[in-house]
Amino acid sequence: MPFSHRHVVLGVSGGIACYKSCFLARRLTEAGATVDVVLTAAAAEFVRPVTFEALTGRPVLTSLWERGGGRALAHIDLAKEPDLVIVAPATANLLARAAMGMADDLLTALLLARARRLVLAAPAMNDDMYANPATTANIKTLESRGWHFIGPESGALAEGPSERPGRMSEPDAIFAAAAQLLEQGDNPGKSKWSGKRVVVTAGPTREHLDPVRVITNPSSGRMGYALAEAARARGADVVLVSGPTELTPPAGLKTQHVETTEQMQQAVQGLVGSADALIMSAAPADYRPATQSAKKRPRSNGAFTLELEATPDILGSLTRRKGMVVVGFALETGNGLANARSKMQNKALDYVILNDATEPGAGFEVTTNRVTILGPGGKQVDLPLLPKRDVADRILDVVEEAL
Ligand SMILES: Cc1cc2nc3c(=O)[nH]c(=O)nc-3n(C[C@H](O)[C@H](O)[C@H](O)COP(=O)(O)O)c2cc1C
Repeated sequence: MPFSHRHVVLGVSGGIACYKSCFLARRLTEAGATVDVVLTAAAAEFVRPVTFEALTGRPVLTSLWERGGGRALAHIDLAKEPDLVIVAPATANLLARAAMGMADDLLTALLLARARRLVLAAPAMNDDMYANPATTANIKTLESRGWHFIGPESGALAEGPSERPGRMSEPDAIFAAAAQLLEQGDNPGKSKWSGKRVVVTAGPTREHLDPVRVITNPSSGRMGYALAEAARARGADVVLVSGPTELTPPAGLKTQHVETTEQMQQAVQGLVGSADALIMSAAPADYRPATQSAKKRPRSNGAFTLELEATPDILGSLTRRKGMVVVGFALETGNGLANARSKMQNKALDYVILNDATEPGAGFEVTTNRVTILGPGGKQVDLPLLPKRDVADRILDVVEEAL
């Protein structure tokens, strides 16, 4: 068990997601970790220290100037002693202070003194704050110094629903990421994904009838973005090939933006020569107008017949690198297993991830998914309904056996 006899510092900065950190503190404690909670002054406005004290059974520290357990240098001890420091939620302000190397309260001081030891941060903020280049740059800086990140997710924020990332990952997902980090330690070489070149496709494609009208589908790109982020978190060198989406690409990986299926095919073909794994989670359009009008077609009252032709078959036309693991997605609307199995065979896939567009909470436009993973030798793994980021981790857990 990764947490038994482990010492974890849970740093909590001042965002509305502080309440979720109570669940995380409890899970870590129940799993056998000694959990020291450090609150920023803003965090203590959201959740009183006594709540965390009751959950962890340990004194909570909130200031550089209090004698934590009689220790004058608590910020140094708490930097050096723990196996892992988790910052959840990590506010925009906390990330900015840490990226600048500031040490003006206990949490930032211990993070600065921790230098290259394990830190896992779960950002949580308003979607515009997260998309702000200042925040993106701060996260990149911290990643380059060895911090690990989980999330944020898209979905409901305190101010209402959002399609864009900002919402803190769920405590269970943070717990799982922390467990994985503790197992692999400061040496990501222990992860099977470490250093592997992974290409992930995501989102829909668009095929133009004329300059203002397109054929497309409601894919949000969330499943692919979650897979790219999960592979990146495991140390893979990830390139995301993304159709048009509203999502902000996860930090720490390269993104190629494409619009049409043909462009996606060309981008993928250009990347797979050196890839160890290809994960095709995009929903490219299968058909495009046989002819495109250079000008907007005027409206007329009569019927309009549109002739369609097939777009290039990305997987079918691919020159594959020997040994590359290929994962495809099958989005079905009934008779899923049979269709997914024949797709696996026809397209020579190593794994197929089956999801059903008609099932509540699965498929397009939602933040959750319920998938069945089909693998070599008749392997079948049925997963429950989970947030897409968790589904991504479970898929990688299965696929890594082929790496
Ligand atoms: C009700 C409320 C909710 C807030 N939620 C967040 C949040 O989710 N993420 C964030 O980055 N800042 C949030 N803030 C702003 C931070 O509390 C503020 O930037 C503070 O200075 C953070 O301090 P800290 O990083 O030292 O904890 C919120 C403020 C208020 C009043």
